[in-house]
Amino acid sequence: MSSQSQSENVLIGVIGGSGLYHLDHLTVLHTVNPLTPWGYPSSPITVASLPSGTRIAFLARHGIGHTISPSAVPNPANIAALKSLGVKAIIAFSAVGSLREEISPGSFVLPTQVIDRTKGIRQSSFFDGTTIVAHAMFGDPFSSKLIEWLVPRIEKALEPSSPDEPPKKLFTDKTAVCMEGPQFSTRAESLLYRQWGADIINMSVLPESKLAREAELSYAIVAMATDYDCWRPHGESVTAHSVLDVLHNNSATAKNVLSAILDDLQETLQKEGEEGAEAILLQEKGGMKF
Ligand code: ADE
Repeated sequence: MSSQSQSENVLIGVIGGSGLYHLDHLTVLHTVNPLTPWGYPSSPITVASLPSGTRIAFLARHGIGHTISPSAVPNPANIAALKSLGVKAIIAFSAVGSLREEISPGSFVLPTQVIDRTKGIRQSSFFDGTTIVAHAMFGDPFSSKLIEWLVPRIEKALEPSSPDEPPKKLFTDKTAVCMEGPQFSTRAESLLYRQWGADIINMSVLPESKLAREAELSYAIVAMATDYDCWRPHGESVTAHSVLDVLHNNSATAKNVLSAILDDLQETLQKEGEEGAEAILLQEKGGMKF
């Protein structure tokens, strides 16, 4: 990897999903495109700063012009590239379908569990193709500490700024299904996922979160519900069009949420001990060092 990427020392990585291809209110410092042992990331990574000086690394999961389908995202390269910049915590955004009436389109969700319905065609370990056998812990697939830290801050950032603004909800402790796609689910599948106890569905959270765990990075997914998946008796089947409409509104909210929390996150990551980095970073070890 280039010496430029190794000297970046950016602590926060943000992965933007569908509809979130860049961030506002940040000064772009430069872009880097590190060649990792797993190839290049989905897009060059933008290193940007807030007025306070907090720097973040932003990566568009599906490429800048959304040219990479969920099955083709170079997940190992994305995670390795962020790690090579010094990133310790990743906040990943993703559009999701809702499997629950109460999670209406426009709601935000911080899931804590995931069910894998991808089809085994994505590289889900840095160790694939090597002679190293490694089993990272994945009982809690996202960083519980980072989620706990994020919940009150995101709730605050979602509070309406005027009485006429409709409130935006944040749901926690929910289960995501990650499916292969690119087609959306059948009605029978959608109903089955509800029976399994799943609350939301997307195509991107795996193996991204598995690789983040192997790389010993804190990882949380901020899911934005764009549609009701097709389980509702009188609901229409989900279409890419309906997803895009809600995405447009959600991405503005996601950008506000981010600008509200980034300075605080940087400050916490820089502090030693239980009040600081330890409050966010994973305690689990045993991932890979590179
Ligand atoms: N992403 C957004 N909506 C989705 C849905 N209904 N199913 C799978 N992925 C999605």
